[in-house]
Amino acid sequence: MILYETHEVISHVLTAEGAQIATEGSHEARVWSVLPLPGQGTPVTPAQLKKEVGDETAKVGQGRAFKNGWIGKDGDGLVKKVAEINDTTQLELKEVQETGTLTTGEKILADLRKRKLIAQKKGQWFTVKKGSNFSTSIAKPETDLTVEMLTSGSWKTSTYKKYNFEAEGIPTSGGGLHPLLKVREEIRSIFLEMGFAEMPTQSFVESGFWCFDALFVPQQHPARDLQDTFYLSDPSHALPPEEAYYKRVSTVHEKGGFGSTGYRAPWQPEESSKLLLRTHTTASSAHMLYKLAAKCRGEAEEESESKEFTHGGAATSSTNEKLGSKGDDDGFRPAKLFSIDRVFRNETMDATHLAEFHQVEGVVADRNLTLADLIGFMRVFFSKMGIEQVRFKPAYNPYTEPSLEIFAFHPMLNKWVEVGNSGMFRPEMLEPMGFPKDVRVHGWGLSLERPTMIRYGINNIRTLVGHKTSIEGVENSPAVMF
Ligand code: PHE
Repeated sequence: MILYETHEVISHVLTAEGAQIATEGSHEARVWSVLPLPGQGTPVTPAQLKKEVGDETAKVGQGRAFKNGWIGKDGDGLVKKVAEINDTTQLELKEVQETGTLTTGEKILADLRKRKLIAQKKGQWFTVKKGSNFSTSIAKPETDLTVEMLTSGSWKTSTYKKYNFEAEGIPTSGGGLHPLLKVREEIRSIFLEMGFAEMPTQSFVESGFWCFDALFVPQQHPARDLQDTFYLSDPSHALPPEEAYYKRVSTVHEKGGFGSTGYRAPWQPEESSKLLLRTHTTASSAHMLYKLAAKCRGEAEEESESKEFTHGGAATSSTNEKLGSKGDDDGFRPAKLFSIDRVFRNETMDATHLAEFHQVEGVVADRNLTLADLIGFMRVFFSKMGIEQVRFKPAYNPYTEPSLEIFAFHPMLNKWVEVGNSGMFRPEMLEPMGFPKDVRVHGWGLSLERPTMIRYGINNIRTLVGHKTSIEGVENSPAVMF
C-alpha cells in the first residue's frame, strides 16, 4: 500500500570548543583583536596577552595568527599587521552549525574534525510514498475459501492472505511426563516383556509385622529405629495378621525352626503391630508371596488375587513337567512379580537423599532356583536397561542369604556405582508362609531415582522431585523410549 525508503545521512555537529569558536571567533582572531595597529598603541607583551585572552587561546592563537600573517612583533610586544581579517574558521563552523555540512567540501570538514572542532553524526530519514495498492481503508484478506465465496463467485476478486511458511506456530501445551514416570514406564515394559506381573503396592502404610517381622528382620534391628522409620501416631497399631502365620513367624524369630536357630530374643507383639510408612516395597512382596503360598498351606485359592499373579507356565521350564510326572500337586505355582512404587525413610535430606523415593523391585519364585539363576537374570535385566557391565558383591540383608549388591560401570562418571541390592529369600521367611522346601525366591530392589538422575544428568534430587522441579524442564526433557 505504501512505498517506504530509509535513507542514511552523515552530518556534523560542533564540539564544545567548536561552538565557542562559532560565537566568539577563532583563537587567532581573538588574539588579533586585542592587539593595536602599529603606532596606534602600546604593543602587547606575551604575558599581557595571556591575561587578556586566557592561556589556551594565547598559546594556540598566536601561532596561527603569525602563520596567517595577521600579527607581527614590535620590540618585546605584539601588534596587528593587517587592519582587517577574515576569520574563515568561525565562518565555516557557523555554516556547519546551521547546515550540518560545508559547501566548500570534505577536505575542510576533515581538517575541522582533526582539530576536534566538529564531530560526525549519523542520521536517518525516511520517505513514504503511496504504493500501487494505496487505500485509506484496510480490507481484511481472506484466509479460507468458503462455500459462500465459491457459489457467489466472490472468490475471483477476493484478496487472499499469503501462507507464512516461516511462522513458528503456537507451541502446544500438552503437558509432559515427569522423567521419573518415563523411566518407570521403561522399566515397567522390561518387566512385562520378561513375563512379570505387577504387584499391587497401594498401601504406603504397613505394620512392623509385614515390613520387618515377616521378612525375618529381628525386632532389635536398627532399621526399625525411629531415626530410620516413620511411625504412625494415629492410628498407631494394626489389626493382627492371620493367627497361625503370626505364630509361625514369632516362633521362628524367638525360638527358631525350619532348620534355623532363630534370634533367641524375646518377641514383642507391640513392635509387630506398630503402623509405619513402608521402608521398602519388599513389604508388598511379602504380602504377595504369602498369598502365593495360600494353596501350599491348603487354603482355597483366592480367585481374583493369586491367579492373576501366578503363571501356568513356569519360570524355569522343567517345573510343570516335574509336577506332572509326580502327580502330587502341592499347590505351588511359579511366579514372577514386580513393583515400582514409593517408600519412605527417615533420612537426613541432601542432594541425593529425600525422605521418600521409589523402589523398583522384583521377585521370582520357582523350585530349585540357584544363585547363578539370580546372577544370570540380573545380567539380562540390567542389559535391557542399557547397563552391560555389572558386578556383584556379597552383602547382608536380614531376609536374604546369600545377598548381593549390584554395581554397574558408569561410563560418564567412569566408575562403578551401586545400582541395586538382591538376594535369595531365607527359609525363615518362606517356610512360615507355607512354601515347600524346594521353592526358592529371588528378590532384588533398586531405586528409580538413581538411574533417572544418571540418564538426565541431574545431580541434585531436589531438581527432580519437589517444589523446585521446573515444569518447563519436565516438558522439554527428551523422551526416553517413546
Ligand atoms: N529391600 C531391599 C532394599 O530396600 C532390596 C531387596 C529386595 C533386597 C529383595 C533383596 C531382595 O534395598
